[in-house]
Amino acid sequence: MKQQSCRLCKGRLQTILSLGDMPLVNYFPIEKEIGQERKYPLTLCVCRSCSLVQLDYIVSPDKIFPVYHYESGASKPLVVHLEQMVEGAITMFGLKKGSKVLDIGANDGSSLMYLKKKGMKGLGVEPGKNIVKLARERGIQMVEGFFTKKLAKTIHKKHGLFDALFATHMLANVVDLHDFMEGIKLVLAPKGVIVLEVGDVEEMIQKVQFDAIYHEHYSYFSLASLTKLLEEHGLKIVRAEKNPFHGGSIRIFAKHDGFKTQDSRFKKREGRPLGKKNYQEFAEKVGEFRKEFRAFFKKNKGKIIVGYGAPAKAVTLLNYCGIGKKEIQLIIDTTTAKQGRVMPGVHIPIVFEEKLREIKPDYCILFAWNYKKEIVPKLQRVLPKTTKIIIPHKKYTTKR
Ligand code: TYD
Ligand code: ZN
Repeated sequence: MKQQSCRLCKGRLQTILSLGDMPLVNYFPIEKEIGQERKYPLTLCVCRSCSLVQLDYIVSPDKIFPVYHYESGASKPLVVHLEQMVEGAITMFGLKKGSKVLDIGANDGSSLMYLKKKGMKGLGVEPGKNIVKLARERGIQMVEGFFTKKLAKTIHKKHGLFDALFATHMLANVVDLHDFMEGIKLVLAPKGVIVLEVGDVEEMIQKVQFDAIYHEHYSYFSLASLTKLLEEHGLKIVRAEKNPFHGGSIRIFAKHDGFKTQDSRFKKREGRPLGKKNYQEFAEKVGEFRKEFRAFFKKNKGKIIVGYGAPAKAVTLLNYCGIGKKEIQLIIDTTTAKQGRVMPGVHIPIVFEEKLREIKPDYCILFAWNYKKEIVPKLQRVLPKTTKIIIPHKKYTTKR
């Protein structure tokens, strides 16, 4: 469904970049489903009034999340990141044994496993039926569904208030942001803290990470738009941090009340929000990327080229660039749910990591570039010395 106005403030939307019709990124088809993927327009816009970056065409969450092939546990660095986030909350906000924590968008329960180890009482909310099952098998208490004001009321009735709420890289996946925030207010204890982490849209634009654009990312936040959203609902950011996760993220801690501190990396940017020029340059660089990426395959026709990582972002990158199984033989990924399946839209087969030992590619493209620090040494150990590892985006940045 196409939206006529901003989901946050009803302001007018301006197009930044249109990527054409794209398949959904977290349902990986099996062989006999090939060609049946539905495609939807994917267009990035910015609100002229409140500057929230967002998609104008909304694919209903009911079509995206109930069967979902993303598993947090498949990426070890993510598990470590989540554990460190929990540790941070423990140190700074006094969470302890017996504290009650709600993890919204809990996925396979990776954060909650750690909370449990620390003796806290955790509950997860997650709409992915298959992933809820995984989390329950790990002994995590889960509520299946989307976190809305309505569900918050039910949770409140049954479980009362929570000392901490975690929502990690999931706010972008929420269509009705106001309803979500009202739900938060209902279940957060008077002195409770919400820990919210989102991808930083300013980093995405500057580093030309257009592969973070896909249908389930309905919104793309900056500290400014996040602050506005929380403040509208009477929540105060008490601490704001930047971290390099997923190419650049913002983590905020908010309470019903309190004073704000933020890390020094934000200060440099104050007073210089992104403008029309930045978005224009971003769109141009995305076009350049496509041209060069396609030229690479033309030049290397006949060479053995494989991919490492089948993240959602690879689906956007490959579909937008029009690169498929003619160019890339296979993609390696550690996610159990993605095995024996193909990349949506471009149908490159996905295989387990063991395959790495059998192949001798000329090139290996690292689609999970956000984990390059962990993955490159692994590839260098296993692949022949002659294999060249390619990291997308390396040379693409835009000026501020
Ligand atoms: P991720 O970057 O978390 O996200 P998104 O889907 O949001 O773009 O996905 C990383 C993918 O890479 C995921 O499918 C797991 C896979 N992966 C590996 O195959 N090997 C690894 O060593 C790591 C860290 C991830
Ligand atoms: Zn707006």
